[in-house]
Amino acid sequence: MKILMVCLGNICRSPMADGLLRKKVEENGLNIVVDSAGTSAYHVGEAPDSRMRKTAHEMGTPIDSLRARQFRQADFDDFDLIYAMDKSNYNNILQLARNDEDKQKVKLILNESNPNMNLEVPDPWYGGEQGFYDVYNMLDEATDVIINKLIHGER
Ligand code: 4NP
Repeated sequence: MKILMVCLGNICRSPMADGLLRKKVEENGLNIVVDSAGTSAYHVGEAPDSRMRKTAHEMGTPIDSLRARQFRQADFDDFDLIYAMDKSNYNNILQLARNDEDKQKVKLILNESNPNMNLEVPDPWYGGEQGFYDVYNMLDEATDVIINKLIHGER
C-alpha cells in the first residue's frame, strides 16, 4: 500500500499530512509507504515552510527532512490512494488522470474525518499563525481515521 498526500505547494499542508501519517504508520509497525507532492512546481526542492515546521515541532511531529516535489502522472501508477487537501488540488489531479482507475484513487482528505461533506484544508500560506495549528489539528484527525482503517484492513 502506498499513499500520496497532495496540496498546491507541497510545503505546508501535504508535508504535514505526510509527516502525521508516516509517524502513525511507524508507530503501528505497518508496511505502508507515505509521500507527498504539490500540483505546482513553485517550491520544488524546498523544505516545508518555516511556520509549518514550527507548528509541527511544537505538536510533536517534525517534518524538517521532507522536500517538495511536483505531482506527476506516474504517481497514479506508483500510489494506491491519493489524498487532495482541497477541491482545487483535487480538480488539478483529476485533470491528469488517464482513466477511471486513476480517478478512483483520488479523495478529499477531510472526507475521511467528515464523510461526504467535501470540506477543505484551508491554505494557510497568506494567513496568521493560528492557520497552521488549524491545519495540524484537521490533519491529525483525518490521519487518525486513515490509520484506523489501515489497521483494520478497510483500506
Ligand atoms: P501548501 O501551501 O499548498 O499547503 O503547500 C502553499 C504554499 C505556497 C503557495 C501557496 C500555498 N504559494 O503560492 O507559493
